[in-house]
Amino acid sequence: MSENPITQVMLNRKSIRRYSHQPVSDEIIHAIVSAGQQAPFASQLYSVLLSRKKRHAFGAPLLFTICIDAYKISRIMEKRNWKIVSNDLTLLLFGIQDATLMAENMVIAAESFGLGSCFLGAAPYMAEKIAKQYKLPPRVFPLVQLVMGYPAENPSPRPRYPLEFTLFEDEYPELTDEMIERAMKQMDEGYIAQGYYRKGKIRIPLENDRPETYTYDNYSWTEHISRKWGQWHRSLEEILNQLEIRGFCLSRAERN
Ligand SMILES: Cc1cc2nc3c(=O)[nH]c(=O)nc-3n(C[C@H](O)[C@H](O)[C@H](O)COP(=O)(O)O)c2cc1C
Repeated sequence: MSENPITQVMLNRKSIRRYSHQPVSDEIIHAIVSAGQQAPFASQLYSVLLSRKKRHAFGAPLLFTICIDAYKISRIMEKRNWKIVSNDLTLLLFGIQDATLMAENMVIAAESFGLGSCFLGAAPYMAEKIAKQYKLPPRVFPLVQLVMGYPAENPSPRPRYPLEFTLFEDEYPELTDEMIERAMKQMDEGYIAQGYYRKGKIRIPLENDRPETYTYDNYSWTEHISRKWGQWHRSLEEILNQLEIRGFCLSRAERN
């Protein structure tokens, strides 16, 4: 009842970080991107860049860069004698939603063809470099990258928070210590049981001379994510700068 071929594909999906040399046909690539396009959209504020001249992260044959794109719609509006006056934060929020939904549709479509994928999150911080590489027009901002190809590994699906920590009906509950501990336990034990950080030799270093007390026996998802949001991206400058270079201005002053 609650499982069918589509949800089975979704529940079995995991990020793939080793790829075979098997090439991916144009037909499959086009089917994946078309399925991506069929995601719901607010305004189709996206474009997808593809690179396949070399192998990419994790040996993947395909690298997609999913961009927020306010350029194409401005060209269409020009033909109708209109100009975008909506503020850039609103455009970016709708662009993030459109681009993200399309990207995840691509992920699921790829799974359905037996391909694997893995997102790469650094694109917004490399926006200027990516823009030069792909000759992007203004108002196109690289949101996220996605490597894809036929998998050469088959890890187990990774854990998620319990449903009670995710689905809140009618009102947001008071999060009790027990609920938080159950959520942490499910995530941490799941990742440690898979040897996820040990196998990938992944560990975020502690900054400011904080002494390391964790080993791969107890370095877990909640420790990893705490180190990430507890240390990185404190300043707004870097990301505002990348956005501004790409033509998105988030200051309170209106763009002219
Ligand atoms: C926006 C975003 C950025 C990500 N960036 C990276 C990345 O830079 N490197 C990487 O190996 N995985 C990256 N991932 C993959 C996540 O690590 C992965 O989805 C998460 O650990 C859950 O594992 P699963 O996808 O196997 O279920 C990213 C995922 C998302 C959605």
